[in-house]
Amino acid sequence: MRHLMSPLDFTVKELSDLFDLAEDIEHNPAKYSHACAGKKLATCFYEPSTRTRLSFESAMLNLGGNVIGFSDAGSSSAAKGESVSDTIRVISCFADICAMRHPKEGAPMVAAEKSGIPVINAGDGGHQHPTQTLTDLLTIRALKGRLDNFTIGLCGDLKFGRTVHSLIHALVRYENIKFIFISPEELRIPDYITDMLKQRSVPYEEVIRLEDTMADLDLLYMTRVQKERFFNEEDYVRLKDFYILDKTKMKLAKEDMLVLHPLPRVNEISVEVDDDERAAYFKQVQYGVYVRMALILTLLGIHVD
Ligand code: CP
Repeated sequence: MRHLMSPLDFTVKELSDLFDLAEDIEHNPAKYSHACAGKKLATCFYEPSTRTRLSFESAMLNLGGNVIGFSDAGSSSAAKGESVSDTIRVISCFADICAMRHPKEGAPMVAAEKSGIPVINAGDGGHQHPTQTLTDLLTIRALKGRLDNFTIGLCGDLKFGRTVHSLIHALVRYENIKFIFISPEELRIPDYITDMLKQRSVPYEEVIRLEDTMADLDLLYMTRVQKERFFNEEDYVRLKDFYILDKTKMKLAKEDMLVLHPLPRVNEISVEVDDDERAAYFKQVQYGVYVRMALILTLLGIHVD
């Protein structure tokens, strides 16, 4: 039995196979429409979500399976004090695979240790969000045709942003990747990540102004300043609109630079950018369904000829 806790749980070759499968699903959806008949996915979400939960549910329904679950810890027995270890033992009696989101770092891993079914980390606190990373990588591969030889700017909340942390860990395994970290001082990328980059001799720069680096980027990954990760309202209010990507800044960028964002956005990308053909963030959401379909099939060991 195999779980997914981090994007590094899959080798580069396994990721390539997963993305090939996702692309086959995109082009031949009917072939997969009964692949999970009789199977159930449990979505156990202890933290709010629109994309990840509904994308998982949509993925399982597209595969002909069924879904059960909860979208709010308050409506589950967690509200009565049940541990994730006990909850997953119970869910293992009801479902064949589980996607779990939790505000505490490591909670899905604790669940996986006691689980009788594959567990997918659907985001744990400020730590990792591996299926968002699979989504990001598939989007880049589909729209750019490769996963190497990029200068990628990551902008916004690099301290608490789990999507950023997962994406960096995944991208360092590809050739000739350079990172430019764009953040205010208070939301800088954590030292454990820059230490890892130094160890692997992966080049990176840290800058504060987005304008100063726009022209260098092949990919720009925008992120939201996350209100839910701040300890006080005052800091959040001071930093929330630090970056706003608008048409003026887009004029500084390469003609083929892609703008990615895990979403939800608040103000960090002006809606006027949505019509720019370089804006890829809504396409990303669609790729998220294909890659989650591929992931469910892979973890359940289902092969479709
Ligand atoms: N990208 C992402 O994780 O979105 P949700 O929080 O809506 O699931």
